[in-house]
Amino acid sequence: MSKTYVHGYHPRENERLQDQAGTLVDLLHSDTAYPPGSLVLEAGCGVGAQTVTLAQRSPDARFISVDVSAHSIAEAKRRTEAAGFTNVQFQQADIFALPFRPESFDHVFVCFALEHLSRPVEALAILNKLLKPGGNMTVIEGDHGSTYFHPESRAAQMAIHCQVELQRLAGGNALIGRQLYPLMVQADLEAVHVSPRMVYVDSSRPDLVDGFTRKTFTAMIEGVRESAIRAGIIDPEAFDAGVRDLHRTAEPDGVFCYTFFKGVGEKRRRV
Ligand SMILES: C[S@@+](CC[C@H](N)C(=O)[O-])C[C@H]1O[C@@H](n2cnc3c(N)ncnc32)[C@H](O)[C@@H]1O
Repeated sequence: MSKTYVHGYHPRENERLQDQAGTLVDLLHSDTAYPPGSLVLEAGCGVGAQTVTLAQRSPDARFISVDVSAHSIAEAKRRTEAAGFTNVQFQQADIFALPFRPESFDHVFVCFALEHLSRPVEALAILNKLLKPGGNMTVIEGDHGSTYFHPESRAAQMAIHCQVELQRLAGGNALIGRQLYPLMVQADLEAVHVSPRMVYVDSSRPDLVDGFTRKTFTAMIEGVRESAIRAGIIDPEAFDAGVRDLHRTAEPDGVFCYTFFKGVGEKRRRV
């Protein structure tokens, strides 16, 4: 795991992950469904924001969802049970020390976890070994360098840079989305295909203005205020001006764009 998980484990962050998952379900998950009877490993499940969608879209598949944080696992279990799903089993485990035999899973699913790891190729290679021959892996990551908006604002870009820099200092990479193809190939997956998934938000989509621009992206940047100031990356006035400008993009004449990347690769078949 990265030295520190940059977003933290606070209730507000949990809500943000839920808002993010709810808003992006179609964009990110519409083409993910697992066949009846298949066994899927979800690595880095957090508080279960994606787990609920996975379980719902593939009701006859079985999921084992793991996270290094016991607290997140407890919350994920609570949410999934509250939603009535019985096809998910949760387990606290570190991706770098997973308690599973090679070739145990038909599919692996990883979302927004790679960006927090200092050794992403090693993590993908470990997960690849857990796939059965013919199995596949799906990886979804964001890339904060893909953020642009109207009105343009240097201050807002500087506030976003604080998040990128803090994540880098913690051993992660907030710009990892653009690297998915080479990372998956280096982890020896084959037939890798990466598709960019752009979120485009203007005021004709008030659900996205609220659910994505405000409550997902801007809330994430707001969440690093104290750490960024403490780390000496920015001063309070500059940070607050940047956040104000991010909120400005959620006004009726504002526009906000962000791109996620979804990669799917197959386990190499034995020759
Ligand atoms: C941004 S959250 C994403 C959670 C979930 N996949 C989602 O999309 O909402 C990243 C998660 O990765 C977990 N994580 C970080 N390093 C890990 C590791 N080495 N092994 C397992 N989980 C890890 C963190 O505890 C955190 O819950």
